[in-house]
Amino acid sequence: MTLPKLYIHAQDFMPINGTDYLELYVSNAKQAAHFYKSAFGFRTLAYAGLETGLKDRESYVVEQDKIRLVLTSPLRSGTDIGRHIDQHGDGVKVTALWVDDATYAYNAAMERGARSYMEPVTESDEDGHVVRSGIYTYGEVVHIFVERKDYNGIFLPGYKKMESYYNPEPVGLKFVDHMVGNVELGKMNEWVDFYEKVMGFTQILSFDDKEISTEYTALMSKVMSNGNGRIKFPINEPAPGKKKSQVDEYLEFYEGAGVQHIAVATDNIIQTVTALRDRGVEFLRVPGTYYDTLLDRVGHIDEDLAPLRELGILVDRDDEGYLLQIFTRTVQARPTMFFEIIQRKGAQSFGKGNFKALFEALEREQELRGTL
Ligand code: FE2
Repeated sequence: MTLPKLYIHAQDFMPINGTDYLELYVSNAKQAAHFYKSAFGFRTLAYAGLETGLKDRESYVVEQDKIRLVLTSPLRSGTDIGRHIDQHGDGVKVTALWVDDATYAYNAAMERGARSYMEPVTESDEDGHVVRSGIYTYGEVVHIFVERKDYNGIFLPGYKKMESYYNPEPVGLKFVDHMVGNVELGKMNEWVDFYEKVMGFTQILSFDDKEISTEYTALMSKVMSNGNGRIKFPINEPAPGKKKSQVDEYLEFYEGAGVQHIAVATDNIIQTVTALRDRGVEFLRVPGTYYDTLLDRVGHIDEDLAPLRELGILVDRDDEGYLLQIFTRTVQARPTMFFEIIQRKGAQSFGKGNFKALFEALEREQELRGTL
């Protein structure tokens, strides 16, 4: 029996428990790990490299609550990781998704037209075994399915626990709320279709260039979500404007589609952003006038206005509640990837009311770089 398309979606054929880890290819993993510890409050978890038998690369794993970052660098020339870094600079290579059955997830995706990155592989050590498999998404980014129900180790087989004398306090980052991809002009709907057909996601929101535009630049965005809402992937594409949009700038410097920002959730954005700022994390600023009319726009909020204004935290409201958010400046040499810190108080949207103020702030940064 062939099921109608809608029914297939309702079954959620690709159950995902959450984000398992994000792997970034970076030019100096050792220093990047230190940066994510000292500036963002992550802690050392595990290591793989020469000391664990790897010859061509090393990876440092840092964690904060449910967020795990794997920072990977090549150890010699001529590797595919090195080629990736040469082309894209530092950036997200892997968004790993935690599933109950990585073989099933892979087969389901492949049957529906995915491009294979890695066939299911079982890796074992004395703590059990993990099954991983992988498919490509936009650009060179991949989704790796991780099945870890038979594993009790520190991270993955092949990694050893790493301890450090330097264990800065966490800043309150909890989990990955959403992760945004920038794709080439005209490609957004292609990737929306990919997440619908191959991954069983549904589109929960869409913004056209009339909603996301300033005097100079524009972009379009659609938000894809898995069945339980734990995985949310907004996908942006540039729209024609008078000047080069932030998405165009990204695509130029990343030399292709890729991850634009990782939004991480906190329960107390004022505390989190204060700690991040004190450790040197730089944020985008909107003009002070944003706050003069904020409460007229969003109504009552629990937080005092003064710390929001001082830190540059933005607020937006939708039918279900409100959210607080702030964006870091880009975190590597190229003007490509950045982080968002977000606290949701009911709202399940993405801060549409802040887009204009935010994009104008981004344009001021582009202006300074001469890339507008
Ligand atoms: Fe976001």
